[in-house]
Amino acid sequence: MTAHPHVPSPSQPARPRRLRTSAPMRRLVRETRLAPGQLVLPLFLREGLDRPRLIDGLPGVAQHSEDSLLSTAAEAVARGVGGLLLFAVPDRRDVIGSCASDPDGVLARGGRLLRDALGDHVVVIPDLCLDEFTDHGHCGVLDSQGRVDNDATLERYQAMAMVLADAGAHLLGTSGMMDGQVGAVRRALDDAGHLDVGVLAYAAKYASVLYGPFRDAVESTLEGDRRTYQQDPANRRESGREVALDLAEGADIVMVKPALTYLDIVADTAAVADVPVAAYVVSGEHAMVEFAASAGAFDRRTAVLEALTGVHRAGADLLCTYWASEVAGWLQES
Ligand code: PBG
Repeated sequence: MTAHPHVPSPSQPARPRRLRTSAPMRRLVRETRLAPGQLVLPLFLREGLDRPRLIDGLPGVAQHSEDSLLSTAAEAVARGVGGLLLFAVPDRRDVIGSCASDPDGVLARGGRLLRDALGDHVVVIPDLCLDEFTDHGHCGVLDSQGRVDNDATLERYQAMAMVLADAGAHLLGTSGMMDGQVGAVRRALDDAGHLDVGVLAYAAKYASVLYGPFRDAVESTLEGDRRTYQQDPANRRESGREVALDLAEGADIVMVKPALTYLDIVADTAAVADVPVAAYVVSGEHAMVEFAASAGAFDRRTAVLEALTGVHRAGADLLCTYWASEVAGWLQES
C-alpha cells in the first residue's frame, strides 16, 4: 500500500512555511484583505463650533464644525471610505431629547449637509439614539421612577427615524439597545414610504467601559451606567438572541460592539447572520492602540492594520473605525 503523497511521514514533514517564503507568496495566499469600501468613519458634529476641536482621550479625532465635517467627510470619500456614521452634540438637552427629532436640530442638519454634499458617493448613517440629547444622558426616556422606559423610547426613535430619513439618511444606526427598536423603526419608515432607508442594527452591544472616550466626545451627562439595557460583558449566548431578534425585526445589517474585545461574538454572529455583519472598534479600543503606540510599545500603523484585519478575519464585513479615512489612504497607496 502506498501512502497518499500529501500525508506527512516522519521523514517528510508537511511544510506550511513554503507558503511564507516571500512577500509575493504571502500576498498570493492571503485569506483576508482590507478594502476602503468596507470602512465606516464615525464623525462628530458639535453645534456652535466654528472650527474643529480635538477630543481629549480620543487621539486624532475631533468634534467638527459644519465646515470641517464636510471637508473631513469629502476627504474620506475621496479615499474610498464606504460609509459615514454621524453623531451630533447639541447646545441644549432636555428630559425627552427634543433636539433629536427636530428637523432643524444639529443631527438632522448634519445628515442633510452630508447627503446634499456627497449624494450617493458614500452611505450616510446618522446615529439613531437619544443619549446625546437627553439631559440625564440615557439612551431613552425615563418613567416616573427614573427607569429607562422601553416602549415610550420606541416612539421617540420612530420620530427620529422620520426626521433623519427626510434629511437624506441611507441607513439609520439604531444604537440604543431598546427591545423592539429595529421593528419599530422599520414600521415607521415603511408607513412613511421610506422603503429604501435601511437599518444598521447595533444588535449585540455590550455595557463596555471602552466607550469612555466617546462619552467625552459627545460631552455625555450620564451618571451611573447603561447596564439595564446594554449587555453584560460576561454573556455570549445572549448575543445570539439579540441578533436573531434584530434579524426577525428586519435589520439590514447587524453590528457587534465593541469589536477587538468581542471577537467571539463577531465570529458567532457571522456564522448565523444572513445579512452583512459589522463591528465597531470603539473609542477605548482606538485609544488603547494609540496610547500604546505613542509610548513606543509597537509600530502604530502595523498595529492598526493588524487590529482591523483581526476583526475582519473574525467575520465582520464592515468595520466602523476612527481610523477609516487614514487606513483607506494607506490602502490606496499600496
Ligand atoms: C450611544 C453610543 C455609544 C457609542 C456609540 N453610540 C456610547 C454608549 O453606548 O455609551 C460608543 C462608541 C465608541 O465608544 O466609540 N448611542
